[in-house]
Amino acid sequence: MRVLVTGGAGFIGSNLVDRLLADGHEVVVVDDLSSGSRENLAGAAAVDRFRLHELDVRDPALVDLAAELQPEVICHLAAQISVRMSVADPVRDASVNVEGTARVLTAAREGRTRKVVFASSVAVYGRPTTIPVPGDAPTDPRSPYAASKLSGEIYLATFRALYGLEYTTLVLSNVYGPRQSPDGEAGVVAIFTDALLSGTPTVVYGDGTQTRDYVYVDDVVDGFVRACGQAGDGRRFNLGTGIQTTDRRLHALIADAAGAPDKPGFAPPRVGDLPAMAVDPVPAHEGLGWEPRTDLAAGIKHTVEWARERCHA
Ligand SMILES: NC(=O)c1ccc[n+]([C@@H]2O[C@H](COP(=O)([O-])OP(=O)(O)OC[C@H]3O[C@@H](n4cnc5c(N)ncnc54)[C@H](O)[C@@H]3O)[C@@H](O)[C@H]2O)c1
Repeated sequence: MRVLVTGGAGFIGSNLVDRLLADGHEVVVVDDLSSGSRENLAGAAAVDRFRLHELDVRDPALVDLAAELQPEVICHLAAQISVRMSVADPVRDASVNVEGTARVLTAAREGRTRKVVFASSVAVYGRPTTIPVPGDAPTDPRSPYAASKLSGEIYLATFRALYGLEYTTLVLSNVYGPRQSPDGEAGVVAIFTDALLSGTPTVVYGDGTQTRDYVYVDDVVDGFVRACGQAGDGRRFNLGTGIQTTDRRLHALIADAAGAPDKPGFAPPRVGDLPAMAVDPVPAHEGLGWEPRTDLAAGIKHTVEWARERCHA
């Protein structure tokens, strides 16, 4: 199968590319390398079934490219991913995430693509009242990023109704693992790992009891691969573990894996931070046969080992 991966030079996208190539597929990446890198695709570049096009997903040339390549499936991960950036510049966020998604869907139509698999975010749930958040929970976007991701979901349903273009939306919780950048605001595992390996002080916002649902990147990639088939057509699924992990416990796990002191500093909670989050993975199990297989301590160990080898050797 030929698969086009937008955002394929990024953290999740490049891990997905490696898995698709290992499964024997032909993979074309479209990425503007704004936060992704060629280094993430070093292994992929050695495979002759792989191609990288350095291109903005908003560029009309994407439509010509898809018409030429006719990818059977498009995994759409390219995005502006920062909530804070979306608040500071909602127009830029909408440009990449809404206009970009409309361009990808137009390209899918021209390329006779069967299906688009879309990376959405738990941000679309706002401040959920039920945790773990059920798959059919109401959406309540509270940032331009959440609004633009939800718009993407609505565009998918619209193109399905208009043109029969199939889709599956995967609503990702807090993904962690090798290749996640410590530079952003979201990758707290990457941020703690980087700091604890380099002996830099770490900061926990609030009293450390805030929780998140951490899901390992290989498990998320497995969800994308499953959705590339016919399972889950026209549906959306949460990809998370359903398990809440406190910031304090996360810090302890990473400090242990890094062999560093478990002594974070504490700072006041940040405005807008949710006290708790986890999503229900059961519908993804029923619809895609998916389940999160990686235990958090094991996933953190892999992640810390990767960071130690790559960045702190
Ligand atoms: N990491 C998480 O925990 C998480 C959680 C929820 C949702 N998501 C979603 O998953 C997807 C991948 O996120 P990630 O964590 O791998 O982030 P990332 O920043 O590593 O990857 C995004 C990729 O998209 C590329 N890109 C950005 N704008 C582009 C544009 N205009 N044209 C072409 N390429 C562009 C970047 O260069 C990068 O390679 C995103 O859609 C994100 O919103 C991630």
